[in-house]
Amino acid sequence: MNSVVNLTIAGRTQVGDISFIDLVAQQRRIRSAIERRLQNVLDHGRYIAGPEIDELEETLAERTGARTVIACASGTAALIIPLLARGVGAGDAVFVPAFTYNATANAILLAGATPVFVDIDPETFNIDASDLQRRIDAVKSEGRLQPTAIIPVDLFGSPADYPAISEIAKAEDLFLLSDGAQSFGAELNGQQVGNLAPATATSFFPGKGLGAYGDAGAIFSQNTLDRERWASIRWHGTDEARKDSVRVGFNGRMDSFQAAVLLEKLSIFDDELAARRRIADEYDRRLEGVGRPQADIKGAVSGQGYYSLCVENRDSVVQKLKQAGVPTAIYYTTPLHLMPAFSDYAPANGLPVTEKVASEIFALPMHAYLTPQQVDYICDAVIEAVQ
Ligand SMILES: Cc1ncc(COP(=O)(O)O)c(C=O)c1O
Repeated sequence: MNSVVNLTIAGRTQVGDISFIDLVAQQRRIRSAIERRLQNVLDHGRYIAGPEIDELEETLAERTGARTVIACASGTAALIIPLLARGVGAGDAVFVPAFTYNATANAILLAGATPVFVDIDPETFNIDASDLQRRIDAVKSEGRLQPTAIIPVDLFGSPADYPAISEIAKAEDLFLLSDGAQSFGAELNGQQVGNLAPATATSFFPGKGLGAYGDAGAIFSQNTLDRERWASIRWHGTDEARKDSVRVGFNGRMDSFQAAVLLEKLSIFDDELAARRRIADEYDRRLEGVGRPQADIKGAVSGQGYYSLCVENRDSVVQKLKQAGVPTAIYYTTPLHLMPAFSDYAPANGLPVTEKVASEIFALPMHAYLTPQQVDYICDAVIEAVQ
């Protein structure tokens, strides 16, 4: 997604190509080390369940403080496995924001349960804890579904309000599964994502903060009891000998090549995360009062998967930025309850905050390889476009 910048904005001259996400610069930096890792896999030939999988799970557990980590085929698999392990299914209500990627709701429906969409907070763009409580109460009084689980999403890398959500989950006896697909590396009150909820799913899709060279994901647990069941479901529901089926499962495994890539990428992850955070700080500083950027809750430090902000004239701003050579993306133009696949579950009165944010939001380029000149240029271009 490269665009050539050859314009002059606010007196500044050419800043070269600006990428929305730059996987090319990143690969250049670690290419030879990745080649060595991939060569190792070719040499030992254990393409499935190779030593890289154990090493990755141990490294991720160490890094996050999680008691158990299971490497999976994708972020979607990482959401479905804990739901199946928990027996979430037909007749169960799972509370989820509609302002997320479709995979969050797909996982609920694939498990056989029913998504109950919850509105978001207008500042954090994450699930609104007071609306969550209202919708739990409404499901209970209607009596058709059994409230069973909550899946908050750490949108764009910013942790959801786990202190408030955990309290509700505890009081209502609901399973709390965090969708941390976009927030690996983020923290809340000094604790890493992977350790903010009893179970956390993350995605290593190539464009994520920590991305594989294909599909991959992981599940993190705060206890060791989940490990056996999750590992079994990931391997077609088999027993430890991987022979007899003891439960229903599927092929939810990560392959050794992806684990090899991720291990190498982890060696530069903190450096890249620090760079993304510096860029986000600069966007915050330069664009103060220009738009409404996503706010983090108190004590949270975002993983800066994306940098999104709201402006009233979003479509014209995005168009002008395109003309200025600044690539943008919109996450998400259509909230899930307004999509055909999920419209059966749309709340009667819609989700007013979600719908408003969806009409105003857009994301700026965000990756560790943006130069200070490019960040400056992007900010100038946004300021000019918003006027
Ligand atoms: C919020 C969210 N949940 C779930 C997923 C699914 O992850 P994957 O594409 O690895 O299956 C994604 C991926 O884009 C996501 O952004």
